[in-house]
Amino acid sequence: MEIEVVEKEALEKLSKISNVQELESFRIEFLGKKGKITELMKNLKNLPPEERPAYGKRVNELREKIEKLFEEKKQQIQKLLEQEKMEKMRIDVTIPGARRKLGHSHPVLKVMEEIERIFVSMGFDVVEGPEIETTWHNFDALNTPEWHPARDEHDSFYITDDLLLRTHTSPVQIRTMLERKPPIAIISPGKVYRRDYDATHLPMFHQVEGLHVDRDLSVAHLKFTLEEFARRMFGKNARVRLRPSFFPFTEPSFEVDVYLSGYGWLEILGAGMVDPNVFLNVGYDPEEWTGYAFGMGVERIAMLKYGITDIREFVRNDVRFLSSY
Ligand code: DAH
Repeated sequence: MEIEVVEKEALEKLSKISNVQELESFRIEFLGKKGKITELMKNLKNLPPEERPAYGKRVNELREKIEKLFEEKKQQIQKLLEQEKMEKMRIDVTIPGARRKLGHSHPVLKVMEEIERIFVSMGFDVVEGPEIETTWHNFDALNTPEWHPARDEHDSFYITDDLLLRTHTSPVQIRTMLERKPPIAIISPGKVYRRDYDATHLPMFHQVEGLHVDRDLSVAHLKFTLEEFARRMFGKNARVRLRPSFFPFTEPSFEVDVYLSGYGWLEILGAGMVDPNVFLNVGYDPEEWTGYAFGMGVERIAMLKYGITDIREFVRNDVRFLSSY
C-alpha cells in the first residue's frame, strides 16, 4: 500500500473523530500491532535493498506524524469531555431559590389568642387548668348536683368514677379561687371534651372561661365587660344582650347574644353572677364577695367571625381550609 494513500486516509479520519471510541478504533486501525503502519513496514522486504532505508525512514516519519496528531486529538477530546462535565455541574446562582411554604397558626388558636389579648388588655390574668379533672372540681364545687344531666356518662368521658376529661373550663374558677385571695380577674383558655359529634359539635373543642371576683360587682359590670369584648372581637357596632337562663354555678344566669349585621342575634356565650354556693365551696364569704363569670366556645366564635358553617372543618386538616384564615 502506498504511503501517501495511508497518510491521506489517516489525516481524513483523524479530522472527523469526535469521541473516545472513534479515537480508539483509529489507534487500532493505524497505530496498532496489526495496523496500517505495520502493514506498510511489511512492504520493506519486497523492495530492492537500496530503496529500503529511504522507504523505512518515510514510514517512520509518517508513524511519528500520526502519533503526534493522535496525541493532539486525544487531548482535544479529553478537554471537551471535561468541559461537558463542568457544564453539567454548573450552578446558576442567579436562579431564585425554591420558596418554602410557611405554616401558620390554626384558626382556632388565632381566635383564642385574640380573645386572650382582649381580656388581658382589660386586666384579666390568663391561667390554665388540667384537662383530666376530678368530678368535684368539674361538677360538685360548681354546684352541679349528682342528678344533673351534664354528669351523665352519655355526655362526658369518664376515666374513673371520680375522674373525667373536663366538660368545660369552669373548674379552673374553682382551682383559682382555692389558690388565690380576691380580688381575682382571670380567663382560662383550653380544651374541653364532650360526647358529641355533628356539624355544630366536636368531642374536643375549646373554651375560654372568665371569672371576676371583687366587692360590689353587679350584672352591669358583667354586661360592660362582655360588650367591650364583643366590640373588639366583632367590630365597634357589635351589640350584646343578656337572656335569662340557668347554670348551676351562677345566679342569675344568662345566655349572651351578640348582634351582627347580616346575621341578627347570635348566642356566643353563657354567663352569670357567681352562685353563693360556689363561694361557700371554696371558702369565700358570699356576704363579702361578689363575682361574675362567663364561658365561651372558641370554635363557635371563630365560626361567627369567619362565616364557617361546619365545625368539623376545624379538625379535617384540609390545608386549603386552614390556610384561608
Ligand atoms: N360552663 C358553661 C358551658 O360549658 C359555660 C358557662 C356558663 C361558664 C356560665 C360560666 C358561666 O362561667 O357563668 O356551657
